[in-house]
Amino acid sequence: MADSLSVTDNRTGNTFELPIVDGAVSAMSFRQMKTEPDDFGLMVYDPAFKNTASCRSTISFIDGDKGILRHRGYPIEQLAEKSTYLEVAQLLINGELPTQVEHDAFRHEIRTHTFVHENMKKFIEGFRYDSNPMSMLISSIAALSSFYPEAGEVSSPEVRRQQLIRLIAKIPTLAAFAYRHTQGLPYVYPRNDLSYPANFLSMVFNINDVNHTPDPVLERAFDVLFILHADHEQNCSATAMRVVGSSQPDPYTALSAAAAALYGPLHGGANRMVLYMLERIGSVENIPNFIKKVKAKEELLMGFGHRVYRNYDPRARIIKGLAHEVFEVTGTNPLLDIAVELERIALEDDYFVERKLYPNVDFYSGLIYQAMKFPIDFYPVLFAIGRTAGWLSQWCEMLTDKEQKIARPRQLYVGKGVRDYVPVSER
Ligand code: ACO
Repeated sequence: MADSLSVTDNRTGNTFELPIVDGAVSAMSFRQMKTEPDDFGLMVYDPAFKNTASCRSTISFIDGDKGILRHRGYPIEQLAEKSTYLEVAQLLINGELPTQVEHDAFRHEIRTHTFVHENMKKFIEGFRYDSNPMSMLISSIAALSSFYPEAGEVSSPEVRRQQLIRLIAKIPTLAAFAYRHTQGLPYVYPRNDLSYPANFLSMVFNINDVNHTPDPVLERAFDVLFILHADHEQNCSATAMRVVGSSQPDPYTALSAAAAALYGPLHGGANRMVLYMLERIGSVENIPNFIKKVKAKEELLMGFGHRVYRNYDPRARIIKGLAHEVFEVTGTNPLLDIAVELERIALEDDYFVERKLYPNVDFYSGLIYQAMKFPIDFYPVLFAIGRTAGWLSQWCEMLTDKEQKIARPRQLYVGKGVRDYVPVSER
């Protein structure tokens, strides 16, 4: 057989032919390799899923060595240049770019679902003024579940679609409310005459101006940022969405878990850690000393490195270009000089070259957010808004995939054998 793997189990001398399909062998095919009939069979061991495909997917394609990202076949560069976030959301969810009629209908649906129940305001008011906005977002997404009891019928395509519209429409509202709460400002209701990014910026920044319209450069910049964050195949948060979703709760619950996974500093929380790092470095002269600490493993160069990319993250390149356009409007961010020099030094240094460490999506995005006056802790929230479309498409794909079941990995038990309980007085 050409596309197969021959495996000899040296414990028994038995040889097995494992078919190779789509560049992989099935982990379950190892279970036939037993030393005796009632042996459980061989397992594969892969902590952190470094070499395990957990699904077949048609949503996003990454070639980490070449630095390529495509959604449903479309290069990210073309989508960022020519599309809008809501169009990309339809592409991710439905598999094809929408016709004008389909897109107008979708935009209309999104715009007419942007409001949240008034009780959500009271819920958000319950947080302290200095609460981290990401914990507010994660909790309020989970709380939305309680307003839509029918959302648990996840086997119904219609029910799924309804929640998907609600989530894409309402997450910017929850995010903006979280921001206004931390600033002690009154909530601004959604404006359905504005585009998706303009409405978000209006809910965040508008102070008592009924005609407030965000600068078109910043509006477009946010649309592009949302596109760049929209999906990234089986990353930590998409995996959380799939794993939690696989036990079939409503999507609000699963999506709050995905947002929680995003929050961590090694994933979407890295954008805020980059800014804290740049502020700590303070000036270009301090960079060599900082790099020394990174190489001594006392520090991580935040915004660098990626499990899949062993080349420049294509999203980072686009964001770097976008930063200059935004700075034309906002004025430059003085930390940009430190970031650019840090990148230059890192890309020439053997430590980073040998490990193929390049800037990822989080390296430059925070500089834009800071120039637009977003507080640093808010950056992962901005990431989560864009990623919502991706999480939902991954969730729908998982639920409709006949090969999927409840996610439940195996373990290699290496603990104690059976032993008798010892009363506390005898220990
Ligand atoms: N700074 C310094 N060294 C690094 C970095 C970094 N940012 N990233 C990886 N390395 C080193 C590791 O120490 C390791 O070195 P070693 O071979 O001497 O032990 C080597 O490069 C390989 O790194 P791993 O940790 O094995 O890579 P992994 O795929 O597990 O981790 C991760 C990927 C988590 C993104 C890592 O690169 C990292 O921590 N980066 C900083 C945080 C960050 O920017 N996260 C955002 C990622 S993009 C996103 O999630 C949206």
